[in-house]
Amino acid sequence: MSNITLHTLSSMKKNGEKFAVLTAYDACFSHLVSSAGVEVILVGDSLGMVLQGNDSTLPVTVEEMAYHTQAVARGNQGSLIMSDLPFMSYATPEQAMDSSAALMQAGANMVKLEGGAWLAETINLLAERGIPVCAHLGLTPQTVNKLGGYRVQGRDKASAQQMINDAVILQDAGASVILLECVPSILAKEITMAVDVPVIGIGAGAGTDAQVLVMHDMLGVTPGRSPKFVKNFMADADTIEEAVANYAKAVKDGSFPAEEHGFE
Ligand code: KIV
Repeated sequence: MSNITLHTLSSMKKNGEKFAVLTAYDACFSHLVSSAGVEVILVGDSLGMVLQGNDSTLPVTVEEMAYHTQAVARGNQGSLIMSDLPFMSYATPEQAMDSSAALMQAGANMVKLEGGAWLAETINLLAERGIPVCAHLGLTPQTVNKLGGYRVQGRDKASAQQMINDAVILQDAGASVILLECVPSILAKEITMAVDVPVIGIGAGAGTDAQVLVMHDMLGVTPGRSPKFVKNFMADADTIEEAVANYAKAVKDGSFPAEEHGFE
């Protein structure tokens, strides 16, 4: 796969072509995922849960994110690498710049942060300094304590409108990508149409420009009950390579997510 850039992703949105995003945290899986045609590798702070065994993403540090980003960058075969800014590493714009510099120097092509319009100044500063930003809206796992659990967001009229406004404000502030997690499918589609930048969904229905899953979830190795939006691609595959390739294909041809994976 040739090198994927922001330009590739926005051209794909313009042409109505879906792209696939998957998490990876080490060099081997990075090599496998990028070789399978997944456009974007997310070095997610979900590593705090699936690799470290914590019950939330809150304990993850910038140093740990930089370590895993470096490993992913070494194995990468041309995907765009997006790395999460972990909890409290962007509480002020200055902190956001230092934390983002660490991730970009470790090999990220873009950083992701969680939150609404209050992040506009931070996103603007980062974007002006050449750091592409993905703004994560909806269920933002770093604020699980405030949200009172991992719940679908934007179900009432006021919070849905707030999310649409946040997406537009953050795009205008310089965000290059928006990510929506656990949002009603209809709302996610509306936001995708309201912004020019690509929108990635997880538990957000089929109307977004791209889909993301946590690798351990789509391989069916995460202990316990899977969230409704997860599909185990290992169930119909003989190898991990085949499962990842089938995931990328299903996202691109629109067969994943199906209606049953979304929320009302
Ligand atoms: O950390 C992560 O893997 C994420 C996805 C759930 C979108 O942010």
